[in-house]
Amino acid sequence: MKILGIETSCDETACAIIEDGTKIISNVVASSALIQAKFGGVIPERAAREQIKSMIPVLEEAMTPLRQDHDEIEAIAVTIGPGLIGSLLVGIETARVLSYLWEKPVIPVNHLVGHIYANFLETYKNPEFPILVLVVSGGHTDLVWMGNHGKIKWIGGTRDDAAGEAFDKCARLLGLSYPGGPSISKEALKNKSKSKLDLFPRPMINEQNYDWSFSGLKTAVAREIQKCSPSELKLRRVEFAAQIQEAIVDSLVIKTVRAIEDLKPKSFLLAGGVAANQRLKEKFSEKISKLENVEFFVPEPSLCTDNAAYIASAAYFNNKKVDWRKINAIPELTITSEI
Ligand code: KG4
Ligand code: ZN
Repeated sequence: MKILGIETSCDETACAIIEDGTKIISNVVASSALIQAKFGGVIPERAAREQIKSMIPVLEEAMTPLRQDHDEIEAIAVTIGPGLIGSLLVGIETARVLSYLWEKPVIPVNHLVGHIYANFLETYKNPEFPILVLVVSGGHTDLVWMGNHGKIKWIGGTRDDAAGEAFDKCARLLGLSYPGGPSISKEALKNKSKSKLDLFPRPMINEQNYDWSFSGLKTAVAREIQKCSPSELKLRRVEFAAQIQEAIVDSLVIKTVRAIEDLKPKSFLLAGGVAANQRLKEKFSEKISKLENVEFFVPEPSLCTDNAAYIASAAYFNNKKVDWRKINAIPELTITSEI
């Protein structure tokens, strides 16, 4: 069964064709991140305008392996939120029009649930349930429990900034380019300083819950930067990048490993753009290798950041087809207790 996925929740315009939820036939992503970088972050209206420019060329390229023939496609999966409203509407309207023209059903997909399914794409085996997932992206940091496909329970998350947002904001303070996660991790790799990587706080790690707080980090980073002259900052930028990365990674790993020990899932999955972070993967691998009866999954970096392949995969495993008339053109904007 082939599903066309469409994802336009932020600054990526993406279309993909996935077979049986796992096999990638095509996966095309156009990003306006370089344009957004000039402004230091995503400007919603600019992102939506870029979505409109890219949608048709990206769709055409994704359809190339099928020689533009839509007969083989059984359904159209589309992200309905959370995300930027102007960007989301471009994908949703495209899905509705294709559904109307091709007479195929639409499968609406929550963006965060989509991220999780990057772990089901092109893997040597699918993760076994029950599953614990840490979704770490630019807008979200959520710990979720999956009893099965479609049985998802939110068990914790950030109370303020998301982990990716913390990377992005701290990168900006250091004068590094957007998106901040890859910029900080690239700088951190150059760090040769012998200083202990404990300069910045790991808030809430001793609290008996599965929640995080990252908003204090940017204040702490701003304070350290204020103490430096421009030339000192230039000298210490690499060390600061390593310190920031270690503070974020430590907070995520310490609390998540505690949740794995408490809840004993059969599989632990990392998902979202921040899951592309090498240091985060290394620390999780190291800690989880010491635990019994739990397997660690993380998607390859290109599948961690926004794409439509995981949207089509999530649609396959949570198959809830609807008529295009039933897709709400005003998507949900937030998730609270359940996703
Ligand atoms: O999942 P995603 O592509 O978009 C959202 O749904 O938000 O995540 C984007 C976020 C950005 O904050 C970016 O800085 C972060 O993921 N990110 C990383 C890395 N690659 C992307 N953070 C840390 N290390 C990376 N290698
Ligand atoms: Zn995302």
